[in-house]
Amino acid sequence: MKLDFLLNGQNQYIDVPPGETLLKILRSNLGIKSVHSGCGEGHCGSCTVLMNDHLAASCMIPAFHLKQKQIETVEYFLTTDEFVDIEWAFLKTGFLPCKYCAGTKVLMAEAILREFETPQEEDMRSYITRTWCTCTAPGPFFKAVSEASARRKRRAHGTRR
Ligand code: FES
Ligand code: FES
Repeated sequence: MKLDFLLNGQNQYIDVPPGETLLKILRSNLGIKSVHSGCGEGHCGSCTVLMNDHLAASCMIPAFHLKQKQIETVEYFLTTDEFVDIEWAFLKTGFLPCKYCAGTKVLMAEAILREFETPQEEDMRSYITRTWCTCTAPGPFFKAVSEASARRKRRAHGTRR
Protein backbone atom coordinates (compact mmCIF):
# COMPACT_ATOMS: atom_id res chain seq x y z
CA MET A 1 0.00 0.00 0.00
CA LYS A 2 1.04 3.56 -0.64
CA LEU A 3 1.04 5.85 2.34
CA ASP A 4 2.21 9.21 3.45
CA PHE A 5 3.22 10.30 6.91
CA LEU A 6 5.49 12.80 8.61
CA LEU A 7 8.78 11.49 9.99
CA ASN A 8 10.90 13.88 12.01
CA GLY A 9 9.31 16.84 10.28
CA GLN A 10 9.74 15.50 6.74
CA ASN A 11 7.03 14.10 4.48
CA GLN A 12 7.48 10.44 3.60
CA TYR A 13 5.76 8.65 0.73
CA ILE A 14 6.32 4.91 0.76
CA ASP A 15 4.87 1.75 -0.71
CA VAL A 16 4.91 -1.19 1.73
CA PRO A 17 2.77 -4.22 2.62
CA PRO A 18 -0.15 -3.08 4.85
CA GLY A 19 0.92 -5.29 7.76
CA GLU A 20 4.58 -4.19 7.76
CA THR A 21 5.46 -2.76 11.16
CA LEU A 22 6.58 0.80 11.66
CA LEU A 23 9.71 -0.63 13.30
CA LYS A 24 10.66 -2.46 10.12
CA ILE A 25 9.78 0.51 7.91
CA LEU A 26 11.91 2.84 10.02
CA ARG A 27 14.93 0.55 10.12
CA SER A 28 14.83 -1.06 6.69
CA ASN A 29 13.19 1.55 4.47
CA LEU A 30 14.12 4.81 6.13
CA GLY A 31 17.49 4.18 7.78
CA ILE A 32 16.41 5.06 11.34
CA LYS A 33 18.68 3.18 13.71
CA SER A 34 17.52 4.42 17.13
CA VAL A 35 14.64 1.94 17.13
CA HIS A 36 15.57 -1.65 17.93
CA SER A 37 13.85 -4.96 17.77
CA GLY A 38 13.40 -6.43 21.25
CA CYS A 39 10.36 -8.27 22.55
CA GLY A 40 8.28 -7.60 19.44
CA GLU A 41 5.20 -7.42 21.65
CA GLY A 42 5.05 -3.83 22.81
CA HIS A 43 6.56 -4.35 26.27
CA CYS A 44 10.31 -3.69 26.30
CA GLY A 45 10.51 -0.13 24.95
CA SER A 46 13.42 -0.79 22.55
CA CYS A 47 11.44 0.43 19.56
CA THR A 48 9.83 3.51 21.12
CA VAL A 49 8.84 6.56 19.06
CA LEU A 50 6.45 9.45 19.51
CA MET A 51 3.35 9.14 17.36
CA ASN A 52 1.12 12.21 17.31
CA ASP A 53 2.77 13.29 20.58
CA HIS A 54 2.14 9.97 22.36
CA LEU A 55 4.60 7.25 23.29
CA ALA A 56 4.27 4.32 20.87
CA ALA A 57 5.92 0.93 20.41
CA SER A 58 6.78 0.92 16.70
CA CYS A 59 6.84 -2.92 16.64
CA MET A 60 3.07 -2.84 17.24
CA ILE A 61 2.09 -0.28 14.61
CA PRO A 62 1.13 -1.70 11.22
CA ALA A 63 1.68 0.34 8.10
CA PHE A 64 -2.02 0.85 7.47
CA HIS A 65 -2.23 2.71 10.77
CA LEU A 66 0.39 5.23 9.76
CA LYS A 67 -1.44 7.28 7.19
CA GLN A 68 -0.95 10.99 7.91
CA LYS A 69 0.49 10.33 11.34
CA GLN A 70 3.33 12.37 12.78
CA ILE A 71 6.26 10.23 13.96
CA GLU A 72 9.28 11.49 15.88
CA THR A 73 12.32 9.39 16.70
CA VAL A 74 14.93 10.10 19.32
CA GLU A 75 17.71 11.08 16.88
CA TYR A 76 15.51 13.94 15.73
CA PHE A 77 14.24 14.82 19.18
CA LEU A 78 17.82 15.26 20.45
CA THR A 79 18.17 18.26 18.08
CA THR A 80 15.20 20.17 19.52
CA ASP A 81 14.90 22.85 22.22
CA GLU A 82 12.46 20.55 24.01
CA PHE A 83 15.25 18.04 24.49
CA VAL A 84 17.38 20.67 26.22
CA ASP A 85 14.76 20.94 28.99
CA ILE A 86 14.95 17.21 29.55
CA GLU A 87 18.73 16.96 29.34
CA TRP A 88 19.07 19.82 31.81
CA ALA A 89 16.61 18.22 34.25
CA PHE A 90 18.24 14.78 34.00
CA LEU A 91 21.63 16.31 34.78
CA LYS A 92 20.31 18.57 37.53
CA THR A 93 18.62 15.71 39.37
CA GLY A 94 21.39 13.19 38.65
CA PHE A 95 19.03 10.92 36.73
CA LEU A 96 21.33 9.17 34.30
CA PRO A 97 19.77 6.21 32.51
CA CYS A 98 22.12 3.71 30.89
CA LYS A 99 22.56 3.41 27.14
CA TYR A 100 19.99 0.63 26.93
CA CYS A 101 17.03 2.81 27.74
CA ALA A 102 18.23 6.43 27.71
CA GLY A 103 16.48 7.17 24.40
CA THR A 104 13.25 5.60 25.59
CA LYS A 105 13.38 7.56 28.86
CA VAL A 106 13.92 10.82 26.96
CA LEU A 107 10.92 10.19 24.69
CA MET A 108 8.90 9.00 27.69
CA ALA A 109 9.66 12.25 29.51
CA GLU A 110 8.64 14.26 26.46
CA ALA A 111 5.38 12.34 26.01
CA ILE A 112 4.54 13.06 29.65
CA LEU A 113 5.34 16.76 29.26
CA ARG A 114 3.17 16.98 26.16
CA GLU A 115 0.27 15.33 27.95
CA PHE A 116 0.50 17.10 31.32
CA GLU A 117 1.52 20.68 31.97
CA THR A 118 2.40 19.85 35.58
CA PRO A 119 2.75 16.06 35.74
CA GLN A 120 2.04 14.37 39.06
CA GLU A 121 3.46 11.01 40.10
CA GLU A 122 0.20 9.23 39.40
CA ASP A 123 0.23 10.66 35.85
CA MET A 124 3.71 9.23 35.25
CA ARG A 125 3.19 5.78 36.79
CA SER A 126 1.46 4.29 33.78
CA TYR A 127 4.37 5.37 31.57
CA ILE A 128 7.17 3.83 33.56
CA THR A 129 5.98 0.29 32.90
CA ARG A 130 6.42 0.78 29.18
CA THR A 131 10.10 -0.11 29.17
CA TRP A 132 12.01 -2.97 30.70
CA CYS A 133 14.33 -0.96 32.88
CA THR A 134 16.53 -2.80 35.32
CA CYS A 135 18.88 -0.12 36.59
CA THR A 136 16.94 3.00 37.55
CA ALA A 137 14.06 3.39 39.98
CA PRO A 138 10.89 5.30 39.09
CA GLY A 139 11.33 7.99 41.79
CA PRO A 140 14.37 9.73 40.27
CA PHE A 141 12.70 9.67 36.85
CA PHE A 142 9.57 11.34 38.24
CA LYS A 143 11.73 13.98 39.90
CA ALA A 144 13.62 14.65 36.67
CA VAL A 145 10.41 15.00 34.65
CA SER A 146 8.99 17.43 37.23
CA GLU A 147 12.17 19.54 36.93
CA ALA A 148 11.90 19.45 33.14
CA SER A 149 8.31 20.59 33.38
CA ALA A 150 9.29 23.51 35.60
CA ARG A 151 12.12 24.50 33.26
CA ARG A 152 9.86 24.33 30.24
CA LYS A 153 7.39 26.66 31.91
CA ARG A 154 10.17 29.11 32.79
CA ARG A 155 11.41 28.96 29.20
CA ALA A 156 7.89 29.65 27.91
CA HIS A 157 7.85 32.75 30.11
CA GLY A 158 11.25 33.87 28.91
CA THR A 159 13.34 32.95 31.97
CA ARG A 160 16.14 30.57 31.22
CA ARG A 161 16.70 28.69 34.52
S1 FES B 1 10.39 -4.46 20.43
FE1 FES B 1 8.78 -3.07 20.49
S2 FES B 1 8.30 -2.91 22.58
FE2 FES B 1 9.76 -4.48 22.51
S1 FES C 1 18.49 2.84 32.88
FE1 FES C 1 19.47 0.96 32.47
S2 FES C 1 17.89 -0.34 31.78
FE2 FES C 1 16.92 1.53 32.17
